[in-house]
Amino acid sequence: MKDQLLKLRDEALAAIAGVSDAGAIQEMRVRYLGKKSELSRVLGGLGKLPTVEERRAMGALGNEIKQAITQALDAREAELAAAELEARLAAERIDVTLPGAPVRRGHLHILYQVIHRIEEIFIAMGYEVAESRQVETDWYNFEALNIPKGHPARDAQDSLFISDEVLLRTHTSNTQIRYMLEVAKGRTPVKIICPGRVFRRDFEDATHAMMFHQVEGLVIDKGITLASLKGALTEMARGLFGPDVGIRLRPSYFPFTEPSAEMDISCIFCGGKGCRTCKGSGWIEIGGSGMVHPNVLRAGGYDPEEVSGWAFGYGPERVAMLMYGIEDIRHFVTGDMRFLRQF
Ligand code: PHE
Repeated sequence: MKDQLLKLRDEALAAIAGVSDAGAIQEMRVRYLGKKSELSRVLGGLGKLPTVEERRAMGALGNEIKQAITQALDAREAELAAAELEARLAAERIDVTLPGAPVRRGHLHILYQVIHRIEEIFIAMGYEVAESRQVETDWYNFEALNIPKGHPARDAQDSLFISDEVLLRTHTSNTQIRYMLEVAKGRTPVKIICPGRVFRRDFEDATHAMMFHQVEGLVIDKGITLASLKGALTEMARGLFGPDVGIRLRPSYFPFTEPSAEMDISCIFCGGKGCRTCKGSGWIEIGGSGMVHPNVLRAGGYDPEEVSGWAFGYGPERVAMLMYGIEDIRHFVTGDMRFLRQF
């Protein structure tokens, strides 16, 4: 019996050592320790052993073997469970150092980058940024700016009318009047720039759009002259295009300024020598300017005998087109990401 038992033990231990599947352990428990196992069958024969000593000894050996097999099963089970966990962890491992899926970061529209640049230049010179409405009354858009009803200058700034008295503003000059009347209220100095969207009934082409932007400047104080206009414009041009750029004021006409001047910058492509962009002149026109007309000062609540002022206005689209070599004004509004992502 002893040999039988030892043989059973060796067989069981060898089988347990060789098992590689945690699920099979339970089967083995039944096979080697269950009621119908070989071990149970052999031990069932204990009663037939001739002496008490033999029975006792074989019983004890049987128990030892049961214990040994149980232990071996438990140990193997634990080993397999650990290995399984290890394998799962390895399979499900996340490499936190892998680069993630890129999220494309947006950025400010190129036109607003340029407008912000212009604002920064003027803020540094002590100007305030003023904004007002895009839907405006005839009075703020035209009449207060010395363009009475029926004035021929209206033809150059035809707009989209909502009613006889309300229109989409044709320039940001309405902000000048609103600032004088609603914010400054006769106080000096006034130093503002007015960026914003304007509308005209224009036929669209590479350089004209029915919706575009303007940046205007307005300064009012005692003793303001054209010299300070030229100084501010020069500062602005240098801030945008570099230290070598110059400004030229060319006599012109605007109803809201007297005298009036077109403002040119020295050609940023040829440095003033003359090239295709400046059509050989060495200068590029970028906007209008002049001394604020007495009627405009009056409309804004200022006495032209007491104070004087200057104003200028230009389109930041044109500046952006020059700065970045953009050939068509319509690119700014098509929303084509291939265009916008370049800047
Ligand atoms: N508001 C004018 C325009 O749209 C531009 C301008 C502003 C000209 C101030 C002179 C002075 O044409």
